[in-house]
Amino acid sequence: MKKTTLIKTATVLVTIGSLALGARAAIMLTNTITGQPLDLAEAPEEGRDTEAVKTFLQTGVNIYNEKPVCLPKAHELFLSMCSGCHGHYAEGKIGPGLNDAYWTYPKNETDQGLFETIFGGANGQMGPMYGALNMNEMLLVMSWIRHLYKDDPKGAVWLTSEQRSTFKPFDEHANPIEPSDALPAQCGGTAD
Ligand code: HEC
Repeated sequence: MKKTTLIKTATVLVTIGSLALGARAAIMLTNTITGQPLDLAEAPEEGRDTEAVKTFLQTGVNIYNEKPVCLPKAHELFLSMCSGCHGHYAEGKIGPGLNDAYWTYPKNETDQGLFETIFGGANGQMGPMYGALNMNEMLLVMSWIRHLYKDDPKGAVWLTSEQRSTFKPFDEHANPIEPSDALPAQCGGTAD
């Protein structure tokens, strides 16, 4: 085979290979307790191919952080799935507080780490969430947890430096965001 043909064949094979991998993550996602790779196939079909999930699986970045249009739905998901154990403002209850700079598992200060803990669970009552939330909803719930952060913005390592410069630690009285069931298109929904 000529060299150019070889290169072309190789390119085609690589392309077929990456297509076959489909929705697999470019980042390595592991269970917070066992360190084993997460099996993303366990997540519901729904909510797998939103722009936010695709971006997250490529980069580990959650584009829902501080996205105003998505925060009402994010709030609603947190109230229905998490606040019973973590408290209304994520101040802590049966489960630890999620609104300050202290983490039992330090990796939770990154969005990749937080996603891994939510998807695969941790110890005791913190079960895996892939049965209850789809991946798009996990990213939304994460953005609400980040919104509830009440400590020094310097500790908000999940924000871009631009977002950090304007971020205000959570204050329940300033600009309250009412929870809402609606899922706008920019947040992975089909409605506007
Ligand atoms: C049935 C109670 C319960 C529910 C519901 C629950 N959690 Fe937890 N969560 C816990 C407990 C208990 C722990 C402590 C586990 C540990 O230390 O391993 C925990 C730990 C965590 C941690 C690790 C915190 C740290 O300091 O590193 C995160 C993140 C978390 N939960 C997020 C969530 C989110 C998001 C939801 C909702 C989608 C949720 N949890 C729902 C009980 C719960």
